[in-house]
Amino acid sequence: MSPCVLLLSVALVSVTSAQFVPPFTEDCRSHMYPPNGPTFRGAVAWYTVDLDLPPSKRWNTLIADKKTDLVTMIQAIRDLADAFVPSGRLVELVDVTLPLMANTLPDPFSEEIKGIAAVSGIPLGEVVLFNIFYEVFTVCTSIVAEDDKGNLLHGRNLDFGLFMGWDVKNKSWIISEKLKPLVVNLDFKRNNQTVFKSTNFAGYVGMLTGIKPHTFTLTMNERFSLDGGYIGILEWILGQRDGMWMSFLTRSVLENANSYEEAKTRLATTKLLAPAYFILGGNQTGQGCIITRSRTLSIDLLEIDLKLNRWYVLETNYDHWEQPLFLDDRRTPAMKCMNQVTQKNISLKTMYDILSTKPVLNKLTTYTTLMQVSTGNLESYIRDCPNPCMPW
Ligand SMILES: *[C@@H]1O[C@H](CO)[C@@H](O)[C@H](O)[C@H]1NC(C)=O
Ligand SMILES: *[C@@H]1O[C@H](CO)[C@@H](O)[C@H](O)[C@H]1NC(C)=O
Ligand SMILES: *[C@@H]1O[C@H](CO)[C@@H](O)[C@H](O)[C@H]1NC(C)=O
Ligand SMILES: *[C@@H]1O[C@H](CO)[C@@H](O)[C@H](O)[C@H]1NC(C)=O
Repeated sequence: MSPCVLLLSVALVSVTSAQFVPPFTEDCRSHMYPPNGPTFRGAVAWYTVDLDLPPSKRWNTLIADKKTDLVTMIQAIRDLADAFVPSGRLVELVDVTLPLMANTLPDPFSEEIKGIAAVSGIPLGEVVLFNIFYEVFTVCTSIVAEDDKGNLLHGRNLDFGLFMGWDVKNKSWIISEKLKPLVVNLDFKRNNQTVFKSTNFAGYVGMLTGIKPHTFTLTMNERFSLDGGYIGILEWILGQRDGMWMSFLTRSVLENANSYEEAKTRLATTKLLAPAYFILGGNQTGQGCIITRSRTLSIDLLEIDLKLNRWYVLETNYDHWEQPLFLDDRRTPAMKCMNQVTQKNISLKTMYDILSTKPVLNKLTTYTTLMQVSTGNLESYIRDCPNPCMPW
């Protein structure tokens, strides 16, 4: 049994009651766009990150604005850690051990993280912890689709916070709730020109969702495995540092790769700390794929293939050739809705409808992002999932 299944069973016992008999699937939504109603909490603000500034200064404006929310978020993590290991020992460990780890991270991430700690006043170790968290606990849905005019569209729900404290009164995940105020859109510029754009959490320097306008779009989903993130991170701490942090790789690819093919090669061949799925869209017909990664290899590449009538690729958190865990099947409902929409009618609007259909939308969903490479457009929305709604 994988750690994920194990954790999921534990969570199931502690979280679900008769009101969530999984799988809870509703009819495919329509006319949800422009975003409105109870599943839409709000628009996402834009910030510029100037890559010409020294790494330690790049995040100052954003962190100055989001400091209070970031402190609240990290306090919530501390509270959970204290509840888990009373006496504050775990947090002590974080404050003593993880700052040392900041020095081992590659450029520019080490300096950026130190800059964020300095501006926010949050202990360095806790900012490091916040940045490691996403490498381990992200569950999501990502779709790349080609419409009948050859436009590539890329959508994703970012679901985060599983197993991190269920708020019984509010029927919500504590960390997911605290993350919503931290969601921002970032415009990374060099020489005053956009290099890439991303939806991100303030305080986090890796990338989970991004677009290089007119060139490619990229999202990353967690891939659970026994040989998972914990082992790679442990190896890193113990000094074996040849693997790359996944979300640092996605950021580096967004920053430096100049074509779909180059991005694909780097994502498929760079050694990683943990397994992952990379969902990549290009700017020409047929350019959309899911790269299924182990730490060392690309295990599988599934690409759009119009000749086979495969006009989209869709990834949640299970290998596409395996059945998803029945308690957590977001793939079947999402694919059902994609097939119902058809290639003729796929657009950012209809993709938003699909990403608004429960359980593709669930209690962990913090944001939905829609990207179109040909226009360079990235838009994102903070989400809520009113009851009845699956916890994941
Ligand atoms: C296409 O999608 C729109 C928006 O959801 C919907 O109103 C329309 O009925 C759909 N058209 C077809 C042919 O399915
Ligand atoms: C429950 O949710 C409400 C509204 O979202 C919020 O104001 C309140 O602080 C939450 N309660 C807890 C204990 O987090
Ligand atoms: C940067 O570009 C914006 C428009 O994209 C322009 O208004 C601004 O003056 C430019 N700033 C500099 C320093 O070139
Ligand atoms: C697609 O990307 C390639 C590689 O970066 C670039 O040369 C080409 O101009 C792009 N095509 C379009 C239509 O933007």
